[in-house]
Amino acid sequence: MSDFVEIFEVGPRDGLQNEARIIPAADKIALVDALSGAGFRRIECASFVNPKWVPQMATSAEVMAGITRAPGVAYVALTPNMRGLTDALAAKADEVAVFGSASEGFSKANINATIAESLERFAPVVAEAVARGVPVRGYVSCVVDCPYDGPVAPEAVARVAKALLDMGCAEIGLGDTLGRGSPERIGAMIDAVKDVVPVERIAGHFHDTGGQALAAMEVALGQGVRIFDAAVGGLGGCPYAPGAAGNVATEAVLDRLTALGFETGLDRDAVMHAARMARAMRGTGDAVRDA
Ligand code: HMG
Ligand code: MG
Repeated sequence: MSDFVEIFEVGPRDGLQNEARIIPAADKIALVDALSGAGFRRIECASFVNPKWVPQMATSAEVMAGITRAPGVAYVALTPNMRGLTDALAAKADEVAVFGSASEGFSKANINATIAESLERFAPVVAEAVARGVPVRGYVSCVVDCPYDGPVAPEAVARVAKALLDMGCAEIGLGDTLGRGSPERIGAMIDAVKDVVPVERIAGHFHDTGGQALAAMEVALGQGVRIFDAAVGGLGGCPYAPGAAGNVATEAVLDRLTALGFETGLDRDAVMHAARMARAMRGTGDAVRDA
């Protein structure tokens, strides 16, 4: 197993999408530009969803148009349907992501579709993106717990992960959306997914509500996972996952990986600078999250 671990920066999207205060596009652009110099290979910075559902992401096209693209960095956007893909391609996203769920309750709340309907909706999105040479990540949310349905079985995660892989997704992002998964349960879930998805195509996406995301990452590292999502400043949450806290903080992931002897290719000072910027953008309330 390689000693290189990719930290996939999701701060400008997942980190900010749940902030109650609408953050000016210029501030988001400044954050992405700061991250671009830190050594990340991929930065998730836009989401072409219905702005009525997630108002904070309404400026995604403006953000994509305003950033200074650094060579070797892919700028990633969420695309829940064909409309989202069309907008993302127009905005020159280098990579896109569809996002499904292992639980029916969250699928319905987050994207207004059953799991089966969502997979049907994603198939043409993935096919079109792949035909245009744009890689697609397939997220699976609620990989251990669902805010609506309770505990989620590893087999349910594996089923959705395999469907997304078979559809043409290059990578599967496993989201502990609520951030309360114990390292043991995350490990059991990854074991089930590894049976159907090559481990080098698995990414861990852990929110850190329960403070165990780094421990879960260590378990996943032991299982061979080498891609982890994180958000500078530990910002984040999903408006359709009440009670979920931020993504695991990039700076904490970086320090833990470094201590464990892994290479990340990141410039710590630049990461810390971006983390300060991200924290300064944080609003004062949680109106969206509690809605
Ligand atoms: P829907 O209401 O079922 O969609 O929403 P529809 O196709 O019936 O269309 C209804 C309206 O939405 C129409 O507008 C469409 O034009 C519009 P109207 O005629 O009413 O004015 N619409 C759109 N507008 C802009 N962009 C689009 C788009 N599509 C339709 N792409 C939909 C379905 C998926 C659009 C909606 O449920 C939605 O936007 N959901 C987004 C939820 C979201 O963004 N959640 C957060 C991201 S997921 C996450 O954070 C988890 C993750 O981090 C991993 C983890 O932590 O687990 C990835
Ligand atoms: Mg998330």
